[in-house]
Amino acid sequence: MDLLVVGSGLFGLTLAERAAVSGRKVVLIDRRDHIGGNAYSSSDPETGIEIHRYGSHLFHTSNASVWDYVNKFTSFTDYEHRVFSTFRGEVFPLPINLGTINQFFRSSMGPGEARKLIASQAKEFESGTARNLEERAISLIGRPLYEAFIRDYTAKQWQTSPEELPAEIISRLPVRYNYDNRYFNDTFEGLPTDGYGAWLERMADHKNIEVRLGVDFFDEDQPLNRKAVEEALPIVYTGPLDRYFDYAEGRLSWRTLDFESEVLDVGDFQGTSVMNYADMAVPYTRIHEFRHFHPERDYQREKTFITREYSRFAEGVDEPYYPVNTAHDRERLLKYRELANSVPSVFFGGRLGTYQYLDMHMAIASALSLWTNKVSEVFA
Ligand code: FDA
Repeated sequence: MDLLVVGSGLFGLTLAERAAVSGRKVVLIDRRDHIGGNAYSSSDPETGIEIHRYGSHLFHTSNASVWDYVNKFTSFTDYEHRVFSTFRGEVFPLPINLGTINQFFRSSMGPGEARKLIASQAKEFESGTARNLEERAISLIGRPLYEAFIRDYTAKQWQTSPEELPAEIISRLPVRYNYDNRYFNDTFEGLPTDGYGAWLERMADHKNIEVRLGVDFFDEDQPLNRKAVEEALPIVYTGPLDRYFDYAEGRLSWRTLDFESEVLDVGDFQGTSVMNYADMAVPYTRIHEFRHFHPERDYQREKTFITREYSRFAEGVDEPYYPVNTAHDRERLLKYRELANSVPSVFFGGRLGTYQYLDMHMAIASALSLWTNKVSEVFA
């Protein structure tokens, strides 16, 4: 073995694949019983519908190298993501656009009038001096739209009132003064034609990659544990940064999600893939209905699979999903980065290993760059 990769998410997979293609023997371990990390999907046995096991994953990028790279392993459908929000019994299109504004204000404004209205409502606070998330959001989109689409949704996501959340959590809130309600603006978008599971399996399918599942890097009963291998060979580590150092500087904080899934005896429950729920009275933040990710597939019409998503702070063994990133976290992160520099044979990467939210295309780009600029140099 030339290289150990800990974690088989898109970061670890990309790194392992590049190393394998260059002739290195790679062992890729993951503590879960499947590869692919949070992008993993599988078919629900009852309905045959492909389910994204860790929340909806939409692939989008404007990075042509990443697009070329991922197309080696899968083709993509022409799916374009769109999201709607239910507020007080009415459904609105998101991101906030002219359609949302005219529906909300019961009006038929053109772009110019709508722009003026929102600018006048946004005057209530100055963006630069906003003292909390609420003031920042109002300074960007005005109070009425903020109170309808942002306030309670954000409070549910963070279990905290937006008045108590730091203004920095949002730097911009896009408002489109046209009727374009495509969720992403990227050049390339789509879903893997035969599913994430198949795509991710193909990335690991190389004679130089040995995958070992159900293996925890910190379990000293397995031979490839940290203590045994830390100085013996180069390691790419994509697990949680604070865990690597036994939480020596304290825990970095994360938000987690709870998913409540159900098979319903209807062909179509909500008519779209993701519906947000903006009201406080509804405890979940959104409902995913997975059949709508693949309208081109011949799924059965008698049943559908839905997942309600709830958000909260992570504790103990919860899956870390989104970095909370308080000032305290940032201080700790700096200390962990110093510790990481003290173990030169270990390369920290991915969303957990660097404590930052990364979209899939960002995780892939970052792994491609780590391989080219650093890890491959070890073998040069
Ligand atoms: P990832 O978390 O995928 O993989 C890390 C792997 O390391 C895991 O498999 C874990 O089991 C393993 N591991 C950890 N500790 C270990 C240990 N001690 N021993 C062995 N293995 C260990 N992106 C996007 O582009 N579009 C989208 O729509 C979404 N949607 C989305 C929804 C939700 C709810 C989340 C949380 C995230 C997204 N993402 C996304 C982001 C996407 O999930 C992210 O880009 C990838 O997961 C990043 O891949 P990584 O390899 O960095 O981490």
